[in-house]
Amino acid sequence: MAGALAPGGEGWSSRTAFVLAAIGSAVGLGNLVRFPAEAGANGGGAFVIFYIFCVLLIGLPILLSETLIGRHGQGSAIESMKKVAIESRASSWWSLAAGVGMVGAFLILTYYSVLAGWIVHFIGIFAGDVAHAFASGGLAQGALQDLSVDQVQGLLPALQANSSEMLAMHAIFMALTIFFVGRGVSSGIEKVAVWLMPIFFILLIAITIYGAFTGSFGAALAFLFDFEPARLLDPSVQLSALGQALFSLSLGSALMITYGAYAARDINLAKTSVQIATADTSVAIIAGLAIFPITFAALAPASLTAILDGQEQVQGGLGLLFVNLPVAFQTMPAGSLIGLLFFIMVFFAALTSSVALLEASVSWAIGRFKQPRWLVTILLGGLAFLIGAWASFSFNSQADFQPFDFMIFSGQPVFGIIDELTAKILLPTSALLVAIFVGWIADRRLIDSENGLDGKLHRIWLFLVRWLCPLVISAILLTGLFPGLLGQG
Ligand code: TRP
Repeated sequence: MAGALAPGGEGWSSRTAFVLAAIGSAVGLGNLVRFPAEAGANGGGAFVIFYIFCVLLIGLPILLSETLIGRHGQGSAIESMKKVAIESRASSWWSLAAGVGMVGAFLILTYYSVLAGWIVHFIGIFAGDVAHAFASGGLAQGALQDLSVDQVQGLLPALQANSSEMLAMHAIFMALTIFFVGRGVSSGIEKVAVWLMPIFFILLIAITIYGAFTGSFGAALAFLFDFEPARLLDPSVQLSALGQALFSLSLGSALMITYGAYAARDINLAKTSVQIATADTSVAIIAGLAIFPITFAALAPASLTAILDGQEQVQGGLGLLFVNLPVAFQTMPAGSLIGLLFFIMVFFAALTSSVALLEASVSWAIGRFKQPRWLVTILLGGLAFLIGAWASFSFNSQADFQPFDFMIFSGQPVFGIIDELTAKILLPTSALLVAIFVGWIADRRLIDSENGLDGKLHRIWLFLVRWLCPLVISAILLTGLFPGLLGQG
């Protein structure tokens, strides 16, 4: 049997397709926007080192756990967990772990598509600029020559104040996502990954080399890898790094269970997990080595020194990509073209992730309601569009509509709330339950027959899933969410 026969008899057409689709889901705005932003906000080095630790010791074992549940269960994430639980004579309530993850994936999709819409908008700006540069004297000069620095910095706020433009771009991106998910696993989702991921890698390497030659590469290295050891112990840095590791690997969000179900029986899941985690982590770090040298090059020497000394923060968050980077491209050689290629690259990464985000709930709904894929995809994608559209109004300070202005959420934009809620609460909770389930509850023979490990590696994996993952995730969740527990207020 070539492909697996999970929901609706669908499956990947080859091992390569599975690996590329899983990497495509993992590599996304999380690597290109969220990772640099979180690294910037959490002081660089300490965050990056704790992040790598989380990927190796927590992400990787859970990635294998999730894919093996899926492949054994042969259904949507919830169905698969239910099946493994029942075969292990455990309560079918364990499928709640996948349920929490699925809700997480759906919520991520709502704002992911809005952000990806911004990327589309910036592709438009830079494409226009390339055309303009061509017409007036060649591509060698910097980007956006007709705009002042202030005007370039104003591009993002102008977009955020323009709700109809934001909605239009969000709609275009969601429509594309629906189109590919609606076509199914091997003729839609897989095609996106197989075509776009190789181009993505080529663009990433090219832009990184460009940044290394034209930007402040040394400063970026120092920023990403130097650290004060004391910050390693900061619970909020730890929670950010853990959340980012799970988010970036698409864990705790039902997806790797879902994709595992489409994998053929002869695929070695341990090996593919290592490939997926390596590719995703390399992309995050390489992306940092592409984005920071370029943005640092545009900073005044004094503020760069202050950032490297830890006295100032890099302007983090979305500003990095949509404000600092365009400003930097203004003074870089061939800025328009590189800027255009950069945003196209981000767009490709976003699309291979958004199809996965939608598929996590689509595969469940197809099985649950026994409805055709197209119908389910349009309905769920449409709902995610509406929630995202509503949330996008929170950027528009003129639209006096702040629905979440209460309790811990008050004063936070809706986007930040959905992002924090998913990455720092839902994903870790789902991953924690998966680890406990695979480590302690599920039938050992069933688990061992799926994991593709033997001997020493198998014992290490089991130890990590049983002890380290549950303990570390719960400790980080508790101290990160309730800093008072450590007596640090
Ligand atoms: N890993 C994706 C990124 O880095 C985000 C993500 C989280 C995701 N959970 C997911 C993507 C589930 C697809 C499916 O951008």
